[in-house]
Amino acid sequence: MEKTSIHGMWSSRMAFILAATGSAVGLGNIWRFPYMTSDNGGGAFVLVYLGCIALVGLPILMSEILLGRHGRRSPVNALTDLVRELGASKGWISIGWIGMVAGVLILSFYSVVGGWTLHYSWLYISQLLGGNGITDPGATFTGLLSSPGELTLWHAVFMVLTLGVVALGVEKGLERAVRFLMPALFVLLLTLVIYGATTGHLGEAAAFLFKPDWSKISGRTFLDAMGQAFFTLSLGMCTMMTYGAYLPKGVSIPQVGVTVALADTGVALMAGLAIFPIVISFGLDPQGGGPGLIFTSLPHAFNAMPFGIVYGLLFFALLSVAAWTSSISLMEPATAYLVERAGLGRRAAAAVVGAVCWVAGLATVLSFNVWASVRVPEHLRVIGGKNIMDMIEFVSNNLMLPLGGLLIALFTGWVVKQTLLKDELGSLSPAALSLWRWLVRLVAPLLVLAVLITPFLLD
Ligand code: PHE
Ligand code: NA
Repeated sequence: MEKTSIHGMWSSRMAFILAATGSAVGLGNIWRFPYMTSDNGGGAFVLVYLGCIALVGLPILMSEILLGRHGRRSPVNALTDLVRELGASKGWISIGWIGMVAGVLILSFYSVVGGWTLHYSWLYISQLLGGNGITDPGATFTGLLSSPGELTLWHAVFMVLTLGVVALGVEKGLERAVRFLMPALFVLLLTLVIYGATTGHLGEAAAFLFKPDWSKISGRTFLDAMGQAFFTLSLGMCTMMTYGAYLPKGVSIPQVGVTVALADTGVALMAGLAIFPIVISFGLDPQGGGPGLIFTSLPHAFNAMPFGIVYGLLFFALLSVAAWTSSISLMEPATAYLVERAGLGRRAAAAVVGAVCWVAGLATVLSFNVWASVRVPEHLRVIGGKNIMDMIEFVSNNLMLPLGGLLIALFTGWVVKQTLLKDELGSLSPAALSLWRWLVRLVAPLLVLAVLITPFLLD
C-alpha cells in the first residue's frame, strides 16, 4: 500500500499545483521583487535572478519535493528516516532545523508586511465608504510605519488569519483558499500592466527591467538575486519538502516543478511591468525604492484611474490573499513537526508557532519607529549598518535559504541513492534525469557557494 502522510494528502495533482503556487506567489513577487530590482539598478539584477531560477531554483525545487514525498513526514523527521535508510551522517538532519528556524524568522517579518497589505485594503474600503483618500501616498506610508500600535494590530490580524487556516489542516484549509484567488490576482496584474501602457511609459519600464547595466553589478547584487530566487520559490527552508510530503505518488514532480516555477516567475515579471511604468509616470525614482516601493507608488495610479478606489481595494485584497497562502506554507513545517514530535493537536501546534512568530515580529514592527536608529555595527561585513528588519530579512532570505538549498542540493546529488531518484523522477527521460542530477550535484552547489562567499571576501 502507498505510504501517506498523517497530516493529510493533496486530493489531486491540481491541488498540489495550486497549493505550491499559492506558497510561491506572494509578497516575494509583488512587494519584494520590484523593490529588489529597484535597489539593484534594474536589468542586470533581473537577468541574474532569472539565471538563478533556472539553474539553481528549479533543480532544488524538484529535490525538495522528491525528498518530501519519499519521507511523508515533517522535514526533520523525513530526513531522519532517510539518513537512517541510507546509512548517511546524521548531520544532514540539520537541513530540517535550519529550515524551521528560517521559517520562523521569515514569517515574523512576512506577517508584518502582510499586515501592511491588510491595512491598505482597509484604507480603500474606508474610501469606498466615503472616508479620506490617500492624497499623499508617501506620507500615508510613513505614517503607518511610525505607528507601532497600528503595525502591531495588523500584524496580529494577519497572524491569526494564517494560523487559523493552518489549524484547519491541509485539505480543508489550504486547498480552498487558492483555487480562485490566484487567477484573479493574475488578471488584476494584467489590467495594471495595460494601465501602465496607457501612461506611455511601458517601454521605459521594460528597458529598466530588462536592459542590463553591468556597471550596477557587485557581489551583493548576486547575493540579492540568489536570495530572491530562493525566497520567491519558497526554497531552502523545507516548505516545498513539506508540501511534497502530501503529494500523491503518481504525480510527475518535474512537471509540477516547472509549472510552479513558471507561474511564479510570470507573476514577478508582470508585477515589475505593472509597477515601473506607474513609478516613472508619476515622477518617482525607479532606483532605490526600498520596501515601501509599491505602497508609495501604486496609490498614485489608483488616484488617477477610473474606478481607482475599487481597483486599489481589489489589488491590496488580492495581495493580502497571496501573502496569506504563502504565510500558511511558512508555518506548515514547524507545525507538522510539533504535531509529530510533541504529540500536539494541529490547532495547538499552529497556535504555538503563530505566537512565537508574532512575538518575533515585534522586532520588525519596532525597527521602523522606536528602534529606528538601532543599527548592526558598521564594522561587521555584509550586514553592517542594516536596521533590525533589514538584518532579519537579509540573514534569513539571503544567507539561510541559500545555505539550506546548498545542503539540500548536495544531499540529493551525492548522498541519496540513484534508484530512489529514478523512482521519484520516473517521468524524466534518461538525458533529462542526468542533466538534473548534474545541476544538483555541481552547478547549483558551486553557484550558491560562490555567491555566498564572494560578498564576504570583497565588500
Ligand atoms: N515564496 C513566498 C513569496 O514569494 C515566500 C515564502 C518563502 C514562502 C519561503 C514560503 C517559504 O512571497
Ligand atoms: Na514568490
